[in-house]
Amino acid sequence: MISMAILGFGVVGSGCAEVLTQNKDLICESCGSEIEIKYILDLRDFPDSPFADRVVHDFQVILNDPEVSLVAEMMGGSHPAYEFTKACLCAGKSVVTSNKEVVSNFGTELLQLAEQNGVSYLFEASVGGGIPVLRSIYVDLASNRIRSVNGILNGTTNYILSSMKEHGTSFDDALAQAQKLGYAEANPAADVQGLDAARKVAILCGLCFGKLVCPASIPTTGITGISGKDVEDAAKLGYAIKLIGHADVKDGKITALVSPRMVPLSNPLSGVSDVFNGVLVNGNMVGDVMFYGPGAGKLPTASAVVADIIDIVSGKGGAVKKPHFVDAVPEDLADFSSYACVRYFRVSNSLSEVSAVFGTDALHLLTGDGYVSVITAAPMSEREADEICEKLDVLSTMRVL
Ligand code: NDP
Ligand code: HSE
Repeated sequence: MISMAILGFGVVGSGCAEVLTQNKDLICESCGSEIEIKYILDLRDFPDSPFADRVVHDFQVILNDPEVSLVAEMMGGSHPAYEFTKACLCAGKSVVTSNKEVVSNFGTELLQLAEQNGVSYLFEASVGGGIPVLRSIYVDLASNRIRSVNGILNGTTNYILSSMKEHGTSFDDALAQAQKLGYAEANPAADVQGLDAARKVAILCGLCFGKLVCPASIPTTGITGISGKDVEDAAKLGYAIKLIGHADVKDGKITALVSPRMVPLSNPLSGVSDVFNGVLVNGNMVGDVMFYGPGAGKLPTASAVVADIIDIVSGKGGAVKKPHFVDAVPEDLADFSSYACVRYFRVSNSLSEVSAVFGTDALHLLTGDGYVSVITAAPMSEREADEICEKLDVLSTMRVL
């Protein structure tokens, strides 16, 4: 019998208890051991829950109980989640988590602590919700040098953009619905401003390129500037707007960014709708591999948390392949102003003014009531895109995938 504790009994924490209970027999068979939820730490009480008798409010009860060998942290936020995780690892308790804020900021240190204490720190649920993407990268794609990753990594924003496009829902109404469904962060600004996706890109850089890039150093634009007009224009041009996390490595230098992008309908990521996430990984041996599934939500996310629990419990005394990375230093990062991609501009200038700036090097795709929409024929660097913005009256601009 393995005794474990849950930290945080919210959407994911309660989902974790539900998965462990509903699939108890199956999980016991996979692990070769029964898993008991001995404690649940939360700020609140849950008198109506079947787990009401396990709820504690003092973390020390869990830390000081030698029977507890595994802790699932699903409180969210950096503090005290980071301190609690550290204390558990130092006390010889393995930790699993869905908390990408902690993994992206402190993952290197926490993995080292786990290693030093002979325990595990696993975080499959921190990227892509229920999609088994991280373990696939560090285990199943281990024979590859990963060259790039492009992903729809945030369920809330994908839900909002899909609702705006498919049902004409307003941004605010779609966000409120995503919150109600349990997809959004406690502070949804992290979702809509792109920070949550940047944290996931940081973790992907760690597992794909061996370097955990600090989320604060990832150029990030969210979806708050996307209008119904942008969505409509993109659809007319044959594109879908998606919040895309991108990372690639060239000549040892990593480029990482998050921004809304026009995704051509020929790209499989364009068809990833609602709360679903899609992650396209390019390896130098395998080529393109796509991971797809629910990117947020109670049971899908808990499914990934419990997969880590099973991995740890069943691997006891065996060889669990563990994630590994070091912190990226500034020299590991490429000069972002040189990053180049095809661009979309919607401008209020005349077609002749537009032609004078772009010459023949652009596709003038759409002229509407007082605007011209342009998609460049060739990739353009960030620097060049900034110059265009100085020359023309740009109503909207986006990178194209
Ligand atoms: P919730 O806000 O629903 O749950 C967090 C729970 O932890 C709440 O009950 C909260 O109590 C409790 N809590 C917060 N601080 C403390 C503390 N110091 N001590 C004890 N309990 C505390 O969040 P989610 O379940 O949605 O998310 C949890 C984590 O999982 C986050 O890191 C999130 O980013 C991540 N995640 C979430 C997904 C989702 O779909 N929701 C998907 C993938 C990852 P109170 O409510 O009283 O503050
Ligand atoms: N708020 C996050 C999202 C939860 O919407 O994707 C899953 O990480």
